[in-house]
Amino acid sequence: MTALRWAILGPGRIARTFASDLALLPDHQLVAVGSRSPERAAAFAADFEVAASYGSYEELVADPQVDVVYIASPHALHLEHARLAFRAGKHVLCEKPLTLSVAEAEEMVALAAEHGRFLMEAMWTACHPVILAVRERVLAGDLGRPRHLHAELGFVVPPGASARMHDPALGASALLDMGIYPLTLAHLLLGEAEELAATAQLSEDGIDLDVAISGRYPGGALATMTASLTSWSSRRAELATDTGRLTLEDFHHPDAGTWVSYAAGQGDGTSGGTSEQIAGAAPVIGHGFSHEILEVGRCVAAGLTESPLVPHAQTLTILRQMDDVRRQVGVRFPTVAEG
Ligand SMILES: NC(=O)c1ccc[n+]([C@@H]2O[C@H](COP(=O)([O-])OP(=O)(O)OC[C@H]3O[C@@H](n4cnc5c(N)ncnc54)[C@H](OP(=O)(O)O)[C@@H]3O)[C@@H](O)[C@H]2O)c1
Repeated sequence: MTALRWAILGPGRIARTFASDLALLPDHQLVAVGSRSPERAAAFAADFEVAASYGSYEELVADPQVDVVYIASPHALHLEHARLAFRAGKHVLCEKPLTLSVAEAEEMVALAAEHGRFLMEAMWTACHPVILAVRERVLAGDLGRPRHLHAELGFVVPPGASARMHDPALGASALLDMGIYPLTLAHLLLGEAEELAATAQLSEDGIDLDVAISGRYPGGALATMTASLTSWSSRRAELATDTGRLTLEDFHHPDAGTWVSYAAGQGDGTSGGTSEQIAGAAPVIGHGFSHEILEVGRCVAAGLTESPLVPHAQTLTILRQMDDVRRQVGVRFPTVAEG
């Protein structure tokens, strides 16, 4: 098989983790990197042994050696950068969230279709072997009837640590940066939310620093989800069902899920019965981003324009939910026209 040839657009923090995972995959090759600065592109290329480095994104996407562009710029710029890549005939893996609003995401999906190119949001959680294994068991009904999911994700972003996490014009938001993961997990395990209610703590600039969301899902399952740019959360997710409890100690980087069945009739009902570790069908490679890379390779080789693991409809649904949450808590982005 010929290796799929990748380019990285925006060599920042996540691009480095992505490049180190890509290096572990024999059928994938990082052939180019593009930055707004030739020096930054060259430094990244030296660190990851990338053949070509460019001091502009326009030059990067024009490289005929490139099959797929991985967009790792701040979310507010994803649409503009995807447009460049599609116009140059490239497939796109775009970091999450795909865009700041569902309207922009619909535009990106339409652009991909117009150019007949593959597009996937880099929602690596949905490609992770442990999440896939857990999801299969939940959807098969093996773990009982889901009643309540709780998931939280947050870390402390000190002032000045990251321009994109403090600047509303770049899409700074606990919801868009972190909250997208609990929302996606709930969507994957419970289905599409019927109703979401949210509250948030905003900064003076109107950024949601902390957000709490409760949701009602099909079958009457409920979810509580939090995201934070100010506090160090457990990153735990728990799904309580009528027959037991599934725990992902760190649902953002899971090693395995732990299922403990409820032992009916045992004392005060706090003790569990049998316990089982739910591992992925395949081992986790690198930091886990490798699995979204493999998924893009599989889809492009099969001639698909979207991934069944991260379908466009799912990406749009989560963005619609985040639009709804933003409306509820009063968060607006300067570049997004709100309906
Ligand atoms: N999947 C995950 O787990 C994960 C984790 C972290 C972040 N992300 C996503 O990845 C994207 C990038 O996040 P990051 O943490 O890697 O950000 P970052 O460290 O700030 O890097 C973003 C890069 O984008 C480029 N860029 C282009 N225009 C820019 C502008 N106006 N301001 C700032 N940077 C600009 C910069 O590279 P040049 O100037 O050199 O071109 C910069 O290095 C975000 O959408 C984020 O949500 C995903």
